[in-house]
Amino acid sequence: MTPLPRVFVALDFADPQAALALAERLDPAHCGLKVGKELFVTAGPEPVRRMIERGFAVFLDLKFHDIPNTVASACTAATRLGVAMLNVHASGGRAMLAAAREAVERTAAEAGRAAPCLLAVTVLTSLGDDDLAEIGVANTAAAQVRRLAALTQACGLDGVVCSAQEARALRAACGPDFKLVTPGIRLTDAKADDQVRVVTPEQAIRDGADHLVIGRPITQAADPLAALATINATLSRVRA
Ligand code: C5P
Repeated sequence: MTPLPRVFVALDFADPQAALALAERLDPAHCGLKVGKELFVTAGPEPVRRMIERGFAVFLDLKFHDIPNTVASACTAATRLGVAMLNVHASGGRAMLAAAREAVERTAAEAGRAAPCLLAVTVLTSLGDDDLAEIGVANTAAAQVRRLAALTQACGLDGVVCSAQEARALRAACGPDFKLVTPGIRLTDAKADDQVRVVTPEQAIRDGADHLVIGRPITQAADPLAALATINATLSRVRA
């Protein structure tokens, strides 16, 4: 199986035509594409199918969180669609994570293809310690991230989505084979947009990230292809 690309471009567009237009200009040899809730709820699976047909590795970022049977069914549907990466919420608990794992493996085997990379979201980066206390979680956010990453790994998932600030600690705790996928990336001197804590692509890789999710620094650049090429050139010089 060909390795997944280092960079996944976040196609955060309400207009599916805009998302597909950018996808048309990008090269599947240089990046994967991340499809999130906005695009998926607006346009459904068809744009994802078209991206996969064009050869892109697609990260379906829908963060499933429901009872085990429902999450398993959603994971089955995503695997049938042919996505390369998908995610669930680790706080759905052990039975839900195990059901997701089983559904992805079984469906991929039935389809005769490699299983997609199954990730979990630990603690949303929008939540701080006070927010967790309010919903009855006594841990700090950092401790809760570590706890849920350990549960994710124990349930046999491939890795977690995490902030670059968490990457170093998670790499140390979870070992070299656990995938760390990191958003919140900004190029040196670039504006942070609404991201509070940002890290450069090379720093994220040095800290242990395997894949980077990058949206606006590419999608809003005057020349998105040039921005991606610059990032890839930088990353090719970095060894984790
Ligand atoms: O435009 P930007 O590079 O900030 O986009 C980052 C992408 O990663 C967006 O799709 C955003 O929803 C997602 N994301 C994030 N922070 C997280 C998890 C996901 O920015 N903690």
